[in-house]
Amino acid sequence: MNALTRAERALVESTEPSVTFTLNGREVSAQPGENLLKVAQREGFDVPHLCYKDGLDPAGNCRACMVEIQGERVLAPSCCRYPAQGMTVQTDSERARRAQRTVLELLQSDMPEAEYTRHNELDEWSARLDVGKPRFAPRERVAADLSHPAIAVNLDACIQCTRCLRACRDEQVNDVIGLAQRGDAARIVFDMDDPMGASTCVACGECVQACPTGALMPARDAALAVPDRQVKSVCPYCGVGCQLTYNVKDNRILYVEGRDGPANHERCV
Ligand code: SF4
Ligand code: SF4
Ligand code: FES
Repeated sequence: MNALTRAERALVESTEPSVTFTLNGREVSAQPGENLLKVAQREGFDVPHLCYKDGLDPAGNCRACMVEIQGERVLAPSCCRYPAQGMTVQTDSERARRAQRTVLELLQSDMPEAEYTRHNELDEWSARLDVGKPRFAPRERVAADLSHPAIAVNLDACIQCTRCLRACRDEQVNDVIGLAQRGDAARIVFDMDDPMGASTCVACGECVQACPTGALMPARDAALAVPDRQVKSVCPYCGVGCQLTYNVKDNRILYVEGRDGPANHERCV
């Protein structure tokens, strides 16, 4: 399913019937194209997820969203698994929860003391699933890249979820961000491993909006300040009409977020 383009997927989905299956003991239906995670969210079940973000193609690389499917030997990532008729799925069995918590704990062990955002999704999921202090040794510290005038890069908080990469490549079609190397050496790079400020980045901000941990954030800790007001506006750059929210403090714009307008669907530009 993931190998298809969005248009091809939409065409396939439009011809698929909905399926009925059992989720945490409840009989539920899934619409064509709805993955297990989306059905669980709709039914009110908490399933942690970090690399999955609405609007981006699923990558299935963080493994925080593992669920148990009856009759299957291994757990499945619910963000890129689609229900089949008659399937029985547990999102909160002991085995599924243990896997979810272990992934969160492993990722937490690499997190720095410093906070870069007030909305760290890894912290939020860890708190919801009661993940305590990590037992594992942290990785080697990564230096900050503050070469960009608008965006601070603190890859010590990066979990290699590739949401930024997909946002830059698939949403904005800029393709500045890549994932270099493999295994525990894997890391986010800009162009040919350039400082972000020297890369071909056009500062659209889509990667910042996509990042779940604050590894990419507005420069000068702007995202840590609490805005005293939010102003709804429209981008003045071209005529498309992307809707934006200005986060303002003391009459100065701290940072800008994309709003869910018909032309931009929460994208930054
Ligand atoms: S700000 Fe925009 S162009 Fe620059 S790296 Fe992020 S998504 Fe790509
Ligand atoms: S910089 Fe942020 S969005 Fe990009 S891979 Fe790292 S954690 Fe994910
Ligand atoms: S959210 Fe499913 S693998 Fe990351």
